[in-house]
Amino acid sequence: MILEGKKIVLGVTGGIAAYKAVEVASRLRKKGAEVHVVMTKEAARFIAPLTFREITGQPVSLDMWQEPAHWNVEHIALARLADIVLIAPATANIIAKAAAGIADDLLTTTLLAMTAPIFFAPAMNHAMYENPVTQENMAKLEARGWQKIAPATGYLACGVTGVGRLPEPVDIVRALEEAGECSKSLAGKKVLVTAGGTLEAIDPVRFIGNRSSGKMGYAVAKEAARRGADVVLIAGAAVALADPHGVRVLHTESALAMRGAVLQEAEDADIVVKAAAVADYRPKEAAAHKIKKNDAELTLILEKNPDILLELGARKKARQILVGFAAETQNLLGYAKEKLKKKNLDLIVANDVTCPDAGFNTETNLVKIVARDGSVEEVPLMSKQAVAVHLLDRIESLQK
Ligand code: CTP
Repeated sequence: MILEGKKIVLGVTGGIAAYKAVEVASRLRKKGAEVHVVMTKEAARFIAPLTFREITGQPVSLDMWQEPAHWNVEHIALARLADIVLIAPATANIIAKAAAGIADDLLTTTLLAMTAPIFFAPAMNHAMYENPVTQENMAKLEARGWQKIAPATGYLACGVTGVGRLPEPVDIVRALEEAGECSKSLAGKKVLVTAGGTLEAIDPVRFIGNRSSGKMGYAVAKEAARRGADVVLIAGAAVALADPHGVRVLHTESALAMRGAVLQEAEDADIVVKAAAVADYRPKEAAAHKIKKNDAELTLILEKNPDILLELGARKKARQILVGFAAETQNLLGYAKEKLKKKNLDLIVANDVTCPDAGFNTETNLVKIVARDGSVEEVPLMSKQAVAVHLLDRIESLQK
């Protein structure tokens, strides 16, 4: 990633390694980044805010209630302004709070409002670092797409040798640069992603829906944007996720509405990833008013929705890559291969949704990627973000 011109929010938390954050800020500034420091109260006991102000040439944000430097609602303004967030050092406490979604000071509140990519560099005593609760909290953050800059092993301030040292500032800055290195690999490409379940109205109050949360599709859209693509994400109505940073999001409701948006956007798309769970049927007539109950049975007549992916496959251009998903409860590979062929896909991502850690509304996914030649790649259980990275690597290798 080119750091020049980037607006970086640097979160500094209360550990002895906070002094190293000064050099991190200084190096980032030398790379041409604009650095906005947010410190916790505890960090300010280790190092004076004034030091950061002098180094960055920007006001330092300390608490929710101080007179804002030059923004309106400060945590929201910081969240909007950031291209990247780096928390260095990240204590066990900030990691735990962020994992739990706690927002009780300016930094945690800013993090909760943040849509930019977040990097964190843990630094603490080795036993605290290795404690299962810290490990679980870090895994949670990584599953949400936070990127960890792994601590070094060495002499710790508490007098022992072990894992938990904040890496040297030069290495932290290099990690940021390298993390984004592949970010330009999809520059100039348009990527269309669909995500989440559609919603089919029965009456103004009720609908037919499904359990898809949209997390997998959102992860793909986020990763494609990180690689520099022009990304449009068409979301189903049932999605309750924040719009990813740098992605154009179109919110739709029914399968028909999603179809309209998809067909239009797919025209000039280089890559289409259809992770949405589209309802195959809709009520033939949505009642104009709320249906009142009586003692009789209620029969809903459903009519078939168009298969959007089938239509895309039929009109697929030579250079377009089309990727579908197949969520199955039985005969996983058989059905997936059938769908790949019928819908003229390049890849299909198959997952058995009866697996507890895979499929609807989980943070992780366990998938098999089937290609046109019938080859099957078994991807181990990993976060949806990591599956997205893996899938886009596969897609990029098809483009070559
Ligand atoms: N899909 C679509 N439009 C539909 C149904 C599905 O575009 N009306 C897409 C999904 O986005 C997914 C793929 O087709 O990428 C497979 O969806 P899935 O629901 O697993 O399969 P179906 O083809 O609907 O078959 P079935 O429901 O019988 O398993």
